Amino acid sequence: MRTIDADVELPRERRAPRLADLDHLRRTSPMSDAVLDEVRGRHIRSGGHWLIDFASCNYLGFDWDPEIIDEIEPAVRRWGTHPSWSRLLGSPRLYADIEERLAALLGAPDTLLLPTATLIHASVIPVLAGAGHVFVEARAHKTVYDGCVSARGQGARLQRFRADRPDELDALMRALPYDGPRLVCLDGVDSMSGNIPDLPVLAAICRDRGATLYVDDTHGFGVIGERTAAEPCPYGSRGNSVVRHTGETYDGIVLVGGFSKAYSSLLAFLALPSVLKDHLKTAAGPYLYSGPSPTASLATALAGLAVNDRRGDAIRADLYAKTVRVLRHVRGLGLDTPSVREFPIVEIPLADAADLDAVARFLWERGIYVTLAAYPLVPRDRVGFRIQVTALNSDEDIDRLNDTLSRLAEQCVLARRR
Ligand SMILES: Cc1ncc(COP(=O)(O)O)c(C=O)c1O
Repeated sequence: MRTIDADVELPRERRAPRLADLDHLRRTSPMSDAVLDEVRGRHIRSGGHWLIDFASCNYLGFDWDPEIIDEIEPAVRRWGTHPSWSRLLGSPRLYADIEERLAALLGAPDTLLLPTATLIHASVIPVLAGAGHVFVEARAHKTVYDGCVSARGQGARLQRFRADRPDELDALMRALPYDGPRLVCLDGVDSMSGNIPDLPVLAAICRDRGATLYVDDTHGFGVIGERTAAEPCPYGSRGNSVVRHTGETYDGIVLVGGFSKAYSSLLAFLALPSVLKDHLKTAAGPYLYSGPSPTASLATALAGLAVNDRRGDAIRADLYAKTVRVLRHVRGLGLDTPSVREFPIVEIPLADAADLDAVARFLWERGIYVTLAAYPLVPRDRVGFRIQVTALNSDEDIDRLNDTLSRLAEQCVLARRR
């Protein structure tokens, strides 16, 4: 999820306490900061209450895939539970195997694995920005934004742009002298709406203006991929992320992706030139100073790549069909959703943000578990909730979700299309 810094544009007296709404939810809503006592696929139990999970990012259902689970124990018996050297000291061969296989899947020159995307943004964005210029997309994920702020703290100048106004980005860069690196940071698949930016247009501007385009596609990796005549659904084929999905190349683009969503594993990557990879091994902190991912994560990532090769496209076709069922229902009810694509994230804004507590309680009582989208995770006029569909949600789960949305719509608490 991202947070938005809209308040920085308001006069001081009108600035709301930024985290008050989130903290209120955390303290009062059962659907926030919950303790889960049992998980059976997409059915979860909190205390005595069973819910259907529409908040999971495990889009492909790899968290419960028997073939993937079976790979964990042999790997742990071979490598121990955790390779606790820093990567610069040494990495189990699993790392080299994943990096090689991942580069082939992405069609990228090389890849570098680190434990999380958060760590990557915090450490790599300042290195790429140096004492130059960073442009951060206005709705970029909070972890990207924090990496950019950290770059500013280390000498870079920071400006904002909007992905839907590429001309403004072009004008901002045109006005600057070439006095250092230029880095343009944004999300691939948007974590709240599932929408994607016009990457080819932004990439062309960056190439013209000598900037590197840095794209966080942690949600897209594993779901969207290259477009082919034989693709089983509009997600494309192979789940090889937004650069391939939009027909782009890695020329001037650094892609960040994560295994922590579709691949159900604690691991993240950069797709990048080998020269930059070698540079980051000593220039960016985590390769040298942080511990690596646990063996179970490395084993599940590797097994996930193999399962993706064999069954990924069929799983994605099923995921697409399930997502379309939800979106058709939402559109049929006349609800307003910013989600314009059929990605398995559907954002549902409320008619009145003040109803969020009551709507959360209603969903909870009906056994529907979603991500609540309070300010500043979304702008104030989009407060509501986010539904995520995964391959493990059954048709009955979706019937129940759609029926619950109908009931909420009858109560006129959901925003309507104008
Ligand atoms: C767009 C985006 N980027 C980065 C992250 C953080 O990923 P990680 O868990 O690998 O740090 C998330 C997680 O929610 C995300 O949605």
